[in-house]
Amino acid sequence: MDITAPQVTAAPPLQGDPCTLIIFGGLGDLARRKLFPAIYQLAHKKLLSDDFRVVAVGIEDQTDSSYRTAIGDALAKADDVMGFDRAVWTALEDRVFWVRGNLNEDQVYKDLAARLETLEGHVRHEHQNRLCYLAVPPFLFGPICSHLSQSGIVPRIADDAVRPWRRVVVEKPFGNSLPTAQALSKTLLDVFAEPQIYRIDHYVGKETVQNILVFRSANSLFEALWSKEHISHVQITASETVGLEGRAKYYESSGVVRDMFQNHLLQLVALTAMDPPVNPTADAIRDEKVKVLKAVKPLVVGDKSTAVRAQYAAGVVNDATVCGYHEEPDVSSKSTTPTFAAIRLEVDTDRWRGVPFYLRSGKRLGRRHSEIALFFKPPTKLMYPPCPNEFPKANVLILRIQPDDGATLGFEVKIPGAALALTPGIETTPVQMSFNYADAFGAEVHPAYETLLLDCMIGDATLFTRSDEVEAAWHITDPLLNLWDKGLGQPLGSYPAGAKGPAEADALLAAEGFAWR
Ligand code: BG6
Repeated sequence: MDITAPQVTAAPPLQGDPCTLIIFGGLGDLARRKLFPAIYQLAHKKLLSDDFRVVAVGIEDQTDSSYRTAIGDALAKADDVMGFDRAVWTALEDRVFWVRGNLNEDQVYKDLAARLETLEGHVRHEHQNRLCYLAVPPFLFGPICSHLSQSGIVPRIADDAVRPWRRVVVEKPFGNSLPTAQALSKTLLDVFAEPQIYRIDHYVGKETVQNILVFRSANSLFEALWSKEHISHVQITASETVGLEGRAKYYESSGVVRDMFQNHLLQLVALTAMDPPVNPTADAIRDEKVKVLKAVKPLVVGDKSTAVRAQYAAGVVNDATVCGYHEEPDVSSKSTTPTFAAIRLEVDTDRWRGVPFYLRSGKRLGRRHSEIALFFKPPTKLMYPPCPNEFPKANVLILRIQPDDGATLGFEVKIPGAALALTPGIETTPVQMSFNYADAFGAEVHPAYETLLLDCMIGDATLFTRSDEVEAAWHITDPLLNLWDKGLGQPLGSYPAGAKGPAEADALLAAEGFAWR
């Protein structure tokens, strides 16, 4: 059953503040595949100020002109740009500049400062805002931040209301353990104030993820039932069909828990499980998320954990034969890096005590889909005689993150017709009410980076991860990673590429009488 939403046009979002976006790693994968497509889309929707410009910085030997050509070519091929309109790019490209240099050396920051002075020369002082995007590997975060500080390009400004503002955007990974995350926080906080730091988790920029809080609090129907009294368990899935996509070196040192759970999946847990904030400000919301993460019960007790891990073997994904993890280029044939994990956790708050949250994510699975499914408790008393041996299924609310963003509510209805003599009782069946963003609001997608970049320019930090959130998440995953490093816990399982995951993941739920959707 489909619920048709009215064809409404969303209110136009705010335009970004006037600013210079400084991209370190201007020719990297992230800049070409995600950031420039987002900038292009913002330009297309007229959401960039007339006083917006990009200064890209990198070691490559480019000129403004050759860089603009390279980015124009990348945009024409980018997945996130639909129907590339060259006129939009032509109007934007004159505002894109290149500064060449070694990001570890002083000289490039001198050159950058001089370039900024020229480009911002005609701009009103309070509009000379700067957004520095660190689209570089983590080992460069420290050197870039201290150079930005020493050169005066980004001084520490504790008050976010000060104009012109100076902000720094950092991409995951935020460390690869609690101690390294704490060291990174220190590096950043030694030179910048927390409100200047925007840690991006692109998953949180996805439409349905942002919608979790709206869905819950704008619909008393759901928020009233959002607790242990009514929900039996929660399943959170981020299933990918892709493999390593040329990132073997990174992935080998990361694995699925660092890559997907510590950040994206735990953010989903926090948003799903949080209590209402005292007010709808970025900090109040993040305070509540931190409380959830801190309330997660330890994943490891003694040398046991409620988590399973596995690696993909050769198989078939989307009708194509693919190799196993060990055969991937740059992966050791002895690698024990998990590409799939399923974890059971409990959020020990009054709202959720005793409700299992099952999380799973893996690469090279049969289907690309991410969702949060809340399973309501089955009814305890029926007002009709059911068929023998048949009891209605529990309601399930599914928040679909991708693809096909939307929500589905499964509920029971009576099968039409009088009860037949052969079935002494009323027969019921589950049906679904389904809401789909594309049908309701048109097929236009809003890639996460578009939303997040605009938020950085507006100064809305709600969707960005604070340092205490990052650390609370590492507190959850570190004991499990340490256990696995010692060769303890569930042994590494295997699943053929294209499967739903390993059998051990099914057993995790079956132990409590549940099954994955
Ligand atoms: C990234 C991970 O953070 O998220 C990748 O590093 C993963 O390994 C990606 O593929 C998933 O995000 P999306 O938006 O492509 O589903």
